[in-house]
Amino acid sequence: MRSIELQGAGGTSLIALGLPISSVPDLCQGKKIAVITDGNVYGFHGDRFPECSTIKIGTGEKEKTLDTVHRIYETFLSLELDRSSFVVGIGGGIVCDIAGFAASTYLRGLPFGFVPTTLLSQVDASVGGKNGVNFQGYKNLIGTFNQPQFVLCDFRLLRTLPKAEVKNGLAEVIKHALIGDRDLLSLLEKERENILSLQEDTIEEIVHSSLEVKVDIVSRDEKEGGERRKLNFGHTFGHAIEKTMGLSHGEAVSIGMVMEARLSMSKGLLTVHDVHRIKDMLKEYGLPTAAALDRESVIDAVGKDKKRENQDIHCVLLDGIGASRIERVKLQELAEAFDDLCEHC
Ligand SMILES: NC(=O)c1ccc[n+]([C@@H]2O[C@H](COP(=O)([O-])OP(=O)(O)OC[C@H]3O[C@@H](n4cnc5c(N)ncnc54)[C@H](O)[C@@H]3O)[C@@H](O)[C@H]2O)c1
Ligand SMILES: [Zn+2]
Repeated sequence: MRSIELQGAGGTSLIALGLPISSVPDLCQGKKIAVITDGNVYGFHGDRFPECSTIKIGTGEKEKTLDTVHRIYETFLSLELDRSSFVVGIGGGIVCDIAGFAASTYLRGLPFGFVPTTLLSQVDASVGGKNGVNFQGYKNLIGTFNQPQFVLCDFRLLRTLPKAEVKNGLAEVIKHALIGDRDLLSLLEKERENILSLQEDTIEEIVHSSLEVKVDIVSRDEKEGGERRKLNFGHTFGHAIEKTMGLSHGEAVSIGMVMEARLSMSKGLLTVHDVHRIKDMLKEYGLPTAAALDRESVIDAVGKDKKRENQDIHCVLLDGIGASRIERVKLQELAEAFDDLCEHC
């Protein structure tokens, strides 16, 4: 078992890796608990949940709305939760984002913790204090910054995860390695079989290294003023590709990382060898590195991204493998370079 502490403005978040889900009541200090989960996760793992009231929501982005939060508030009210209660989200990123938001806003904030059950939520969504829901088609438009009191990663829960979901998580692990940890990249190259078969010690190691990159960045910039944008590597194009091509998040980010690695190469920050190494790694994990993209619709979607400031896009460039920096790039420049970024090298 390993742990990491994230020091946020509103308190400390304890991230416990390799602890069983049965430790949840201890982490909630014996307080009254309400669990929020989704039907899938409950079906697979409900028998290991703590004995308490369980609120089940549906699955998919369509559930990540204020309507769902409204229903959760109603249940909180009927359960008579107060500030001495604890809300625990057990599920993927959608459950964690909604549970964190509902807990942060009910009675101006109940204490909450997460048991992330997807690899993506273990290495990304459950950590960092962003909670929220979608609104009128915009992702994560309504939300709060508020750290969970704990994040418990029980790697046994990943055994039931569909392969496509494992890949989504691995894309984020590879992203963390590329922006901040060369050694993690070597580990990913060396331990592919153990990782794909979800061997628990190896998964603990990659989740730990991955979270160290994220926690280090978040603790320096909790509210995304600058440094935190680094976590968006691969996502400038990735989000646009996800929207326009209907690929999964991990697949779209994988292609986005290759394009943004090429952008870094065009600025003299990466070598051709580095770009090949990144592509090989993504392929080894079954992630795509190219697609037949329509320049106009992708650039249009990049331009509509809410992270844009005027005509400038905050691009994350790799400064060698394992390091990154943020640069403002004009949308026009991205449009002109588009074909080169998509080119096979
Ligand atoms: N707050 C943040 O900082 C942050 C960061 C990254 C992503 N996110 C959000 O996270 C969400 C995506 O999270 P996700 O990829 O975990 O998706 P998800 O929550 O939709 O989970 C994916 C699917 O796997 C199922 N599932 C979960 N755990 C399982 C298990 N152990 N066994 C079998 N099935 C299981 C779920 O029911 C769901 O159908 C997005 O809404 C995204 O915006 C938030
Ligand atoms: Zn992502």
